[in-house]
Amino acid sequence: MPFENLPPSDFRDASNARLWGLPDGFLFGVSTAAYQVEGAANEDGRGPSSWDAFSHEAGRILDGSNGDVATDHYHRYPQDIALMKQLGVDAYRFSFSWSRIQPTGDGATNAAGLDFYDRLVDGLLEAGIAPSPTLFHWDTPLPLEERGGWLNRDTADRFADYAGIVAEHFADRVKRWITINEPVVLTMLGYGAGIQAPGLQLGFGAFPAAHHLLLGHGKAVTALRAAGATNIGIANNHAPTWPASNNPEDLQAAGLYDNLANWLFSDPILLGRYPEVMEPLLPEGFADDLAKISVPIDWYGVNYYNPVKVAAPSEEAGALIDGHELDSSLPFSLVDIEGYPRTDFDWPVVPEAFTALLVDFKERYGERLPPIYITENGCAINDGPDASGRVADTRRIDYTAAHLAAVGDAVAAGVDVRGYFHWSLLDNFEWAVGYSQRFGLVYVDYETQERIPKDSFHWYRDVIAALRTA
Ligand code: BGC
Ligand code: BGC
Repeated sequence: MPFENLPPSDFRDASNARLWGLPDGFLFGVSTAAYQVEGAANEDGRGPSSWDAFSHEAGRILDGSNGDVATDHYHRYPQDIALMKQLGVDAYRFSFSWSRIQPTGDGATNAAGLDFYDRLVDGLLEAGIAPSPTLFHWDTPLPLEERGGWLNRDTADRFADYAGIVAEHFADRVKRWITINEPVVLTMLGYGAGIQAPGLQLGFGAFPAAHHLLLGHGKAVTALRAAGATNIGIANNHAPTWPASNNPEDLQAAGLYDNLANWLFSDPILLGRYPEVMEPLLPEGFADDLAKISVPIDWYGVNYYNPVKVAAPSEEAGALIDGHELDSSLPFSLVDIEGYPRTDFDWPVVPEAFTALLVDFKERYGERLPPIYITENGCAINDGPDASGRVADTRRIDYTAAHLAAVGDAVAAGVDVRGYFHWSLLDNFEWAVGYSQRFGLVYVDYETQERIPKDSFHWYRDVIAALRTA
């Protein structure tokens, strides 16, 4: 199905944004993450992280690249702030590199690391853009990773200490905080399947990492508040799970996957308990930590890209993740979703599943659900500059319009969604597939680091402006 068939057809006209049903005061932002954009891997006292080690191992990254230079945001942040000012966004979601601030993950703080984020935060404030940092977007300080990383309970305490340091320093200027990005992806792809750092293939043995990430989240919320921070949330990835058929085997496999990929990461925070089927996978004594994990948050962040179709285990090759096949001994298999447009990353484009997901959240959590922010949504569309230098990424416009309208539909159904951060401001280092997939509103020429705002950039600017004057 071509992108043009995404309803409604008048999406490309930004002045129609008023019709999507987004509430007054809806916040617009853009997202990035430290290892994906900063570069400057060996500057000003930054320590190595799990991602430096992993990306430098032969064969780990599709195009043999790494984040040593990335988009050079570390040096080019003034230009990137100017781009955001041009866009008119209210907020910038970036992440602090833990090992830039605390090079070994515990002990001494690196003043030069804090200085960089001072310059960034102050520059954003000057431009009228609210800094909205994530404390941790997968780049565990290497010495901690070498002691087991998130499989080691101690990492949750080290993380809370680091959260306290950062809040002490920035709480006067930072007014929105995100603890952790997508514990599900780090657990499943990093510790379970070995597709991302630290590259371990523990299968179900990865689940202690999930628990310690959630515990680290809870402890960080408490540490942030103790140091004066307010307005705290988490950014969780959610993939609506579709059973491949109504056969009991497929339904059972899909139910398991849904618990594992979705509710395992939100129930403990929002309900103070784990889905029962997950309990045998968790470390002993996990129940004693639930009160710490479920410390109230001010809002809940949803990262949404696409639904996932799940069937009973199968020997046949199914859907791939970043070009990797899943272990066939798992109690489920992933199946391609047919009949929808696909991004250049081959991910299906299903905006109505986004609405359904948000409505599910309201139904599942009721009064216990705080306001929602969409902390990530976007698509890999690899269009580059044409002969005149223009990047006509119409499919990104269609994708984004359809997903913003899907958020509007959820709002109409009574879900309290307050804002949307597009992933991403810039093309950047897309983890296991390196620089081969482009998610930016701004094109980056990786040879020269030249930034070229794409058509979608101008469109997003017009959408924001249209809603401001509505
Ligand atoms: C999923 C995305 C997820 C990504 C992580 C994909 O298979 O569909 O939602 O963010 O894997 O690399
Ligand atoms: C991650 C981002 C990533 C994006 C696209 C999310 O899983 O938080 O870092 O670039 O999806 O894969």
